[in-house]
Amino acid sequence: MHSVETFRNLHGEATEWRRYLHQHPELDYRLHNTARFVTEKLASFGINHIETGIAETGIVATIQGEGGDGPTIGLRADMDALPIVEASNKPWSSTTPGNMHACGHDGHTAMLLGAAKHLASTRNFKGSVALIFQPAEEGALGGQRMVQEGIMERFGIAQVFGMHNAPGMEIGKFGICDGPIMAALDEFDIIVKGRGGHAAAPHRTVDPVVIAAQIILGLQTLVSRNTDPLESLVISVTKLTAAQAYNIIPQQVEMAGTVRTLVPGLRDFAERQILASAKGIATGFGADIELKYRRHDPVTFNHTEGTNLAITAARNLVGPESVNDKIKPRMGSEDFAYMLEARPGAFIFLGNGPTAGLHHPAYDFNDDALPYGIGYWVNLVETVLAA
Ligand code: NI
Repeated sequence: MHSVETFRNLHGEATEWRRYLHQHPELDYRLHNTARFVTEKLASFGINHIETGIAETGIVATIQGEGGDGPTIGLRADMDALPIVEASNKPWSSTTPGNMHACGHDGHTAMLLGAAKHLASTRNFKGSVALIFQPAEEGALGGQRMVQEGIMERFGIAQVFGMHNAPGMEIGKFGICDGPIMAALDEFDIIVKGRGGHAAAPHRTVDPVVIAAQIILGLQTLVSRNTDPLESLVISVTKLTAAQAYNIIPQQVEMAGTVRTLVPGLRDFAERQILASAKGIATGFGADIELKYRRHDPVTFNHTEGTNLAITAARNLVGPESVNDKIKPRMGSEDFAYMLEARPGAFIFLGNGPTAGLHHPAYDFNDDALPYGIGYWVNLVETVLAA
């Protein structure tokens, strides 16, 4: 097991990779240049088993240990950027206006490449490591698609691990918890169907604007009055479309929003109660509603054994005082959740220092975190697959 000092020699090179990726951000599944870059680097490390074109631009590469037979574990990095105009003012800013690595997936990719380089040259483990480079994490379900395309079965992956940088957490610190670590993400659309008319004669209309306002407030009481205070539920109405004039009461109001939960039961509850509450309010005012409810990422659920292995790997890298093994779950979501539904394992947060927040135009992955992420991956492999 190694301390972080072992990985300082990869810092310079990994920084170059990270900044190159940062300058060339690509979106969703269209990661052609990124995938080519990753594939070339993997091949240059002497890795022979590289499969490309999984979920369009995803890659799985395997490295066999020299410690004999054993299981295969999957390490996953996401590679996609976001449609944001960069304002970091860094010399390595995006050269594609409107695209930006604002979630640090450039750093995630560089760290897994660094680990690949180290593991390919040392191979001090039994079994095999499957390096999973994933497209389309940002809302386009690339993780789900890689699972659907059968990577777990094809590569014989027994356990799977993921990592995300965390702005606001100190460099060299790790955070993890057993059980739910990130929330499930659902989205809903509600159409409130009233009867439009002249804004000066509201008594001849069924005003869907007023009804929508009641529904928005009603939805908040599902959280404050109908949910166990010790369980987490977020319902946010984020979009509202009514008439485009001062003197028209519209026929209908369209609203949309998001639901975040940490337990599956609460997800069912939210879907059922949003419908019941919105319909009840609308009916009371003589209107009707239409609800569309879509489930996206499930809860990112850390399994106990995988969590303990991750904690051991991180503690050996940075010391026990730098690993918080009881962080609070975050209400954001992660499509690595699909991989953790398919196989046991764990997801961990890595300190990114005092940078701007994720998805902010001024965000930049902190290159000082690179040796820690690389070291975590290597220690994890040598822990789970101890020869
Ligand atoms: Ni991300």
